[in-house]
Amino acid sequence: MARSTFTRGTVAALSAVALFALGACSSEQAGGTAEPTGAAEEGGSGDETIAIGFSQVGAESGWRAANTKSIQDTLTAENGFDLSFSDAQQKQENQIQAIRSYIAQGVDVIAFSPVVETGWDPVLQEAKSAGIPVVLTDRAVDSEDDTLYESFIGSDFVLEGEMAGEWAAEQYDGEGFQVVELQGTTGSAPAIDRKEGFATAIEGTDLEIIDSQTGNFTRTEGKQVMEGFLQKYDDIDLVFAHNDDMGLGAIEAIEAAGMVPGEDIKIITIDAVKDGMQALADGKINYIVECNPLLGPDLADIAKKVVAGEEVEKRIVVKDEAFDQEAAIEALPTREY
Ligand code: AHR
Repeated sequence: MARSTFTRGTVAALSAVALFALGACSSEQAGGTAEPTGAAEEGGSGDETIAIGFSQVGAESGWRAANTKSIQDTLTAENGFDLSFSDAQQKQENQIQAIRSYIAQGVDVIAFSPVVETGWDPVLQEAKSAGIPVVLTDRAVDSEDDTLYESFIGSDFVLEGEMAGEWAAEQYDGEGFQVVELQGTTGSAPAIDRKEGFATAIEGTDLEIIDSQTGNFTRTEGKQVMEGFLQKYDDIDLVFAHNDDMGLGAIEAIEAAGMVPGEDIKIITIDAVKDGMQALADGKINYIVECNPLLGPDLADIAKKVVAGEEVEKRIVVKDEAFDQEAAIEALPTREY
């Protein structure tokens, strides 16, 4: 924690004064749900608590719940952390507010999973000027300046989309399949990258994406969008959903329309959380590409290193598997999330 302590403390104090002068009061008001869980202890013993502010995307999916649990279970007082956690409810402005609140508090590290890719440079520059290192988890930012963050820990979303598309092509090329796509949150890294990866993988096959709309990574919106697709088209063969939750919503819509998911309409999703894996084991989903949400341990490791002033890898790629129905049945009993 020796690194930049003076600069951080000084800038934090100035930021706090500025916020007060502007009438922005408590951290709760400034950062939505950003509430410090305790003061960071700073001393000379070398075993100080690391104050870390984490701005989460929201609570939109089973994946997000597992990711939040991993972070909260790992960044504990026993592990040397004082975690301030905030839920941005899928809104970029809430994340920006939370980050500003963490800067004003003078935390040692800020971590966040950006709801969308663009628009982060100004607030990241503020953190940099305050001497507070930033670690990205799960989702990337689209910035030309990679000095604005220390490290990015997360899956390769393009690869996930490719894995989904390659399996679809292996199974169904030659059958003239009509595909509908349920996209994740518009402008988010997983939505952009999974779309690109899938499209690349099915290029040159006779699978055709006939429609593609956002279901915002939620079960409710996935269901609504699928209902719309079913009203519009009577010849859908395959759903590619950017996450399990939207796929599960699509299952509900398909069943309500009197069809059998996994048979009449095939379904491929991404995440491999428990509910998705159960639907795969039950034959309602045909294939799932995993996106591992257990990012807490890597974040703890990187946070400790950056605070100690050690070099860290700029990009830590989390490895993902893929599951067909047999593999899901085998994996389910010991599945952690
Ligand atoms: O960024 C990861 C994605 O966000 C997950 O695939 C999805 O379920 C979540 O909402």
